[in-house]
Amino acid sequence: MSTSSTVLKIGVLGSGSGSNMQSVLDAIQAGTLNAEIRLVLSDVADAKILDRARNHNLPHAWLDCAPFKTKLDGQAEQRCIALLKESGVDTVVLAGFMRIVKPGLLRAFPQRVLNIHPALLPAFPGLHAWQQALEYGAKVAGCTVHFVDAGTDTGPIIIQRAVPVLPGDTAATLHARIQVEEHIAYPDALRLLSEGRLSLSGRRVELA
Ligand code: GRF
Repeated sequence: MSTSSTVLKIGVLGSGSGSNMQSVLDAIQAGTLNAEIRLVLSDVADAKILDRARNHNLPHAWLDCAPFKTKLDGQAEQRCIALLKESGVDTVVLAGFMRIVKPGLLRAFPQRVLNIHPALLPAFPGLHAWQQALEYGAKVAGCTVHFVDAGTDTGPIIIQRAVPVLPGDTAATLHARIQVEEHIAYPDALRLLSEGRLSLSGRRVELA
């Protein structure tokens, strides 16, 4: 691990299986990422990501996002920000979080909210991106780690990793191949952040 890195204090937001959170945790435990997961939040009460957090003794909570169905807003957003701040979080990692985050969270953690998207952005933003790629007939798919901005999957790109779309692929086989790369890309992006090697030039992320 680089001696010039600073410890990222990570808060994870997820709605599903949490395999990306697991990859970040594995990198921390392997000593290849200088970070701590301070809090895991999910908008889905029985999401596997909360089981993983429990199993690893990570602080975790269910975030009741009602009345909103597709976004994090209002009182839920305020509670989310408060919980993250109380936990000393300085970096917010969206890992399969199926809600649109609003400017309140972005203002609370400026240029410190990251997301992973299962496509090579700007192609195929939005839901089921791997399926979109398959149906479109793309020959290359992949994943993107990016800073989150006010748009949907539009923020400055930090890292992308590509995979081939193979004959006979189904949505499930393609997504599985993409996820292998996601589990490399997210820890790599966070390592660059912890080492202070990311800077923004317009919407381009420059690597030092
Ligand atoms: C990943 O494919 C990620 O790119 C997308 O949602 C999925 C989450 O998977 N945003 P997991 O919950 O990390 O396993």
